[in-house]
Amino acid sequence: MKATEVGKKSTTKNADDVRGKTIFFFGIVGMLLFGWIIFPLFIYEQVDQPIQFSHRTHSGDNVALKCADCHSFDKDGRFVGIPAVSKCAGCHSHTIGASGEEKRLVEDYVIKNREIPWVVYSSQPENVYFSHATHVKLGKVDCISCHFGHQYTDRLRPAMFSRISGYSLDVFGSTLFDVPSTPSTGMRMDDCAGCHSKHGFKETCIDCHK
Ligand code: HEC
Ligand code: HEC
Ligand code: HEC
Ligand code: HEC
Ligand code: HEC
Repeated sequence: MKATEVGKKSTTKNADDVRGKTIFFFGIVGMLLFGWIIFPLFIYEQVDQPIQFSHRTHSGDNVALKCADCHSFDKDGRFVGIPAVSKCAGCHSHTIGASGEEKRLVEDYVIKNREIPWVVYSSQPENVYFSHATHVKLGKVDCISCHFGHQYTDRLRPAMFSRISGYSLDVFGSTLFDVPSTPSTGMRMDDCAGCHSKHGFKETCIDCHK
């Protein structure tokens, strides 16, 4: 074999090697993109909120409402959740600003006395039992430990529900995307149990499941 032929062979071998690695690299990137971004987009249905409500506007300097002014407990100690439209009517019985969203609030809901069909981001599956009274009143757990920064948002992102299980993407929190998953960043069974075990609770399935 002549020296030049050996050289030719090893360059094609090198080129094959590089091509192989490139294909492998893009294959991996493609799979990750598919698994983490494209697949979730495909299986999750986006649901828009009926009105753009801003927590920042209402808990800011101009309108200094406390969380409990809207998210209160009723006289039986039950958590009211998202406030009824009558709460809004106190200030929005007629339009007070220039926003089109507020105009819709007044015309479509307040004047007609219709409830606003809000979508709950953190809604749990039917078989899970969750009590705000236990956590907020007895446990003194902060809203933010479970709901992240929702109270500081200015715009409402669409809620995402799995077309297969019906689960809200928020139940998984960032654990769906984190590798390895970090505890207490969502509202999955492991996240609930993670905080409970920090408190030293011993629990059985039916404490949380109906
Ligand atoms: C003017 C009334 C009002 C005040 C004050 C208010 N909220 Fe809300 N909150 C709402 C409404 C309306 C919704 C439904 C729309 C949305 O998701 O933002 C909501 C939704 C939420 C949700 C979303 C639950 C879910 O998973 O869908 C959380 C969490 C929340 N509020 C926390 C807070 C906290 C914490 C504070 C205090 C810093 C606060 N809110 C103050 C009216 C209010
Ligand atoms: C204590 C009075 C008060 C209450 C109660 C209140 N709002 Fe407001 N809201 C305001 C003020 C003040 C503004 C700012 C108006 C402006 O200058 O545009 C505002 C603005 C808005 C806007 C326009 C967009 C924005 O954020 O600037 C929407 C939509 C809105 N409110 C929805 C609601 C809903 C829904 C409720 C009931 C859950 C509610 N508000 C309860 C005082 C209130
Ligand atoms: C220990 C975790 C935890 C804490 C603390 C917590 N939440 Fe929630 N929140 C949840 C879960 C889980 C849901 C979904 C409940 C369901 O679907 O049954 C929820 C649902 C909600 C909803 C939607 C309506 C409803 O009742 O389902 C609102 C509004 C809300 N939370 C506001 C708050 C506010 C305000 C605070 C603080 C005072 C707070 N949460 C503290 C976990 C928590
Ligand atoms: C950040 C901490 C924290 C998280 C997250 C949390 N919990 Fe709890 N939980 C507590 C504390 C603290 C108590 C005890 C309250 C008390 O009785 O003083 C409690 C009590 C309970 C109880 C009643 C006591 C029992 O075990 O019999 C149930 C049921 C419960 N939690 C369900 C849930 C579910 C479901 C989730 C997840 C969606 C969850 N918790 C997430 C802190 C947490
Ligand atoms: C601290 C509360 C808590 C306890 C205790 C608990 N679970 Fe759960 N479980 C949840 C929550 C919240 C969900 C919904 C979110 C999820 O799927 O992680 C769930 C979901 C599930 C699911 C559905 C899984 C899925 O993804 O569809 C099964 C099955 C389940 N639990 C079985 C059990 C069994 C069996 C036990 C007893 C060994 C148990 N759970 C104890 C909170 C709890």
